[in-house]
Amino acid sequence: MSLTRSDVAAKILADCVAEPVDTFEAFAPVNIALCKYWGKRNALLNLPVNDSLSVSLAKKGSTTRVHRIPGAQEDEVFLNGQPVDKDTGFYKKVVAHIDLFRPLVAGCLRVDTVNGVATGAGLASSASGFAALTRALVGVYSLNLSNEQVSILARMGSGSASRSVYEGFVRWHKGVRADGMDSFARPLPEIWPDFRIGVLTLTSDAKKTGSREGMQRTVDSAILYNSWPEQAERDIARLEHAIAVRDITLLGSTAEQNAMAMHATMLASWPPLLYWQAESVTALQKVWQLRDDGLQVYATMDAGPNVKLLFEASAESDMRSAFTDMDVIVPFG
Ligand code: PMV
Repeated sequence: MSLTRSDVAAKILADCVAEPVDTFEAFAPVNIALCKYWGKRNALLNLPVNDSLSVSLAKKGSTTRVHRIPGAQEDEVFLNGQPVDKDTGFYKKVVAHIDLFRPLVAGCLRVDTVNGVATGAGLASSASGFAALTRALVGVYSLNLSNEQVSILARMGSGSASRSVYEGFVRWHKGVRADGMDSFARPLPEIWPDFRIGVLTLTSDAKKTGSREGMQRTVDSAILYNSWPEQAERDIARLEHAIAVRDITLLGSTAEQNAMAMHATMLASWPPLLYWQAESVTALQKVWQLRDDGLQVYATMDAGPNVKLLFEASAESDMRSAFTDMDVIVPFG
């Protein structure tokens, strides 16, 4: 019989002694993948087909405060100060995550999450949200867990949340074990103070197909997906080298090609999956023109229409002139 999330959480929490406090607040950053997580070997536990590598966006992320509410019959969830309806998928996912810890400490919680990222900004708030929630739960019960164990627990909420447990460059190791105990993220030691990320919010229309469903459709129907693990393996090695020697050309070209390859696998799915909007294509063409004109700028995109730009501080003023409504993030600020 296949393992459930609760089975895995129970293994991690088996040796823990909880010493609950009343309330605990935690922050976790949003991350952008330079080599994407695309495809799962186990959908229930969010175990990936390939390693992925991301950069966290410093102060941009989620802040989650957890309060114990003794005597309450149900958990309460607030998002950006507003109560979240108990019928929503969001509420159910948060409660399912708390349930992983409930065998250790019974009782209900109030969860307040504030996303420091505007809705529709094209930044994955589920990654920072589940990482912050996991850290807050670990904190409110005073659990002595390693960062790797926290990353595993966050991963079970949302795959990319495994990487949002850390700042800076982060590699999520896919692992090979059926229980996923070796599938966690670890930070890379390098820092790159001149590295910049530009976030272009091109449209805030809600996407029709979530990443979970899009990933599964691609794995199930795209023959092109067969080449993806090889692409990811090559790109991870290139990215780690580019980061070690701070080579923006190698990092940018690898990240852009990786994103394009991921989107190619989506387009080769049936029914075809295209997250791009006309504005995305216009932005990509502008990036390619700027590069032809000699500017070192590269693009990446996730399961949505918005484009994120990768460049160094030396290109920042030219980039600000080219993209006037770009939000510039300094990941190692
Ligand atoms: O963690 P999820 O289920 O939201 O999937 C994220 C998938 C991508 O954003 C497209 C890639 C990635 O590595 O973040």
